[in-house]
Amino acid sequence: MAVLPIRFEGDPVLLQIAVPVDQFDENLAALVRDMFETMYDAPGRGLAAPQVGVGRRIFVVDTAWKEADPDPMIFVNPKIMARAEEEAVGTEACLSIPDKSFDVSRPVWVELMWQDLDGVWQQGRFTGVQAICICHEFDHLQGLLITETGTLQ
Ligand code: NI
Repeated sequence: MAVLPIRFEGDPVLLQIAVPVDQFDENLAALVRDMFETMYDAPGRGLAAPQVGVGRRIFVVDTAWKEADPDPMIFVNPKIMARAEEEAVGTEACLSIPDKSFDVSRPVWVELMWQDLDGVWQQGRFTGVQAICICHEFDHLQGLLITETGTLQ
């Protein structure tokens, strides 16, 4: 396991659309382990592969660990299947944009499909801070940062 260097705003990899994962092998598992270690070290609640310089459609999320037991979630090749029409504005930060906060409007729930580390499709519906975090990380796979989607506080 290793803490990977985080890429910062201005790095072109953060503006690229990430490409799908097609190999569900030990390299993918090792990358995800390193992403969790990097996220917990940062410390953060979510990390997308482009933030460590890998232009693949992978992100990890753990919205619980700062206040309670860890709840690590892995999303490979995620697709947003449905989202709430209702949106709410919340304050977000990003490990790639240190020391800044942004107000960002997000749907209050999202439904996703994604693959796990074995390539098996999963689905779920997420609300609250999990929905916010998932939408933030999903945007990273589209090359979108909160500098663009949000308003600097
Ligand atoms: Ni971010």
